[in-house]
Amino acid sequence: MNICIIGTGYVGLVTGACFADFGVNVVCVDKDAEKIHTLNRGEIPIYEPGLKEIVDKNVKERRLAFTTDIGDGIRRSLAVLIAVGTPPRGDGSTDLSYIEEVSRTIAANLNGYKVVVTKSTVPVGTGRFIEKIIAEERKETHLFDVASNPEFLREGSAVEDFMRPNRVVIGARSGQAVAILKDLHAPLYLIETPFVITDIETAELIKYASNAFLATKISFINEIANLCEKTGADVHVVARAMGLDRRIGPKFLHPGPGYGGSCLPKDTTALLNIAKNAGYDFKIMEAVIEVNRRQRGRMMEKIRKAAGKLRGATIGVWGLTFKPNTDDIRESPAIDIINGLVGEGAKIKAYDPAGMKNAASVLPDTVVYSQDPYEAASGSDCLVIATEWNLFRQIDMERVKGLLKHPRVVDLRNVYDPEVMGKRGFEYTGVGR
Ligand code: UDX
Repeated sequence: MNICIIGTGYVGLVTGACFADFGVNVVCVDKDAEKIHTLNRGEIPIYEPGLKEIVDKNVKERRLAFTTDIGDGIRRSLAVLIAVGTPPRGDGSTDLSYIEEVSRTIAANLNGYKVVVTKSTVPVGTGRFIEKIIAEERKETHLFDVASNPEFLREGSAVEDFMRPNRVVIGARSGQAVAILKDLHAPLYLIETPFVITDIETAELIKYASNAFLATKISFINEIANLCEKTGADVHVVARAMGLDRRIGPKFLHPGPGYGGSCLPKDTTALLNIAKNAGYDFKIMEAVIEVNRRQRGRMMEKIRKAAGKLRGATIGVWGLTFKPNTDDIRESPAIDIINGLVGEGAKIKAYDPAGMKNAASVLPDTVVYSQDPYEAASGSDCLVIATEWNLFRQIDMERVKGLLKHPRVVDLRNVYDPEVMGKRGFEYTGVGR
């Protein structure tokens, strides 16, 4: 089968490379010539473990190609997957202008039956919107179907998530579209992946409901952590015991500075907006978003309290990305917190294994970037752990204690054990313990 993926961002690139690895002929297209040029040079514009190997392999075996020729990509493909950006607008709604533009291009290049699939996270009703554009603008009456096949890829483990998904969701109106999409995912049948076949609107909502529920778990455990701090309970033990109940499950119950990244914040706001437009007052969603916002402020309070005074103080910060194993700093709690600290007169010495280049483009120029975690700690009045990179678990903390001006550690990800840190002579603050 020949397929075309429009948009070589995070989702498009991972999806294209993985489908090629399934044995499908994939052409990834993007109007950004620089990005295509980079990919054709064999470089990967994003940080994702395992992605380069699979791109290289499939390019070499001639199943994966990159081009700016969108029309040609569409004309030669049976399935056209849309993976363009759907950025949030200021009012909480979703900007569908890229989706609209791509739909027009598909209509102009429709030269036979095709199934047009949304991979991007799109508001409920977008499938119909695409259908309408293509039906109105196609030059000849070639048949087509629209389908929704949402991705559930986590940054940092996207290749693994694609190859071994918990489920595949296919939303379509025609049996032909479902059959083509099932065929595309054929290798996943061998590992008994559950398939959910449904209508387009349901598939579109499944994506939002899933991400919003994950965000709800995080905000919930963060509120429990805050309550633990007031009552003397230990949130880790609470979370562990809760997670042992199979109806709850252990995942996404790790307290911290709140969720960030390119999906959870955007999707929760979008779902709230979808509800508003549908005339539904979605109380829980509103609270989840508010709790997440407030959690950043609570982290600031912890640092303020630990550091004594912020004006003139030097704060070492370990971790800038929104989570480990990515270079992505979008909506990262670390970035908000550093901006807050700088605003209150602190000097920042930061270290991150992958996110420093991206962070430097958004943080104030006064932030100093270090070669390693020790350099960031050296001479600092207080050390803040903002992202739980594995590297930060393998540190010689005795050495860190010697390097810090005061042995103060604010551990926003509970990487360290409070008791052990206390015994080592640190003034240690965690979350909910
Ligand atoms: C998420 C979804 O998991 C994925 O299915 C979807 O398709 C895209 O959005 P991602 O944004 O890569 O993936 O990150 P994820 O691993 O879900 O983490 C999101 C945020 O929540 C991070 O900031 C992380 O630090 C935070 N988090 C996660 C917690 O604070 N506690 C947890 O227990 C889990």
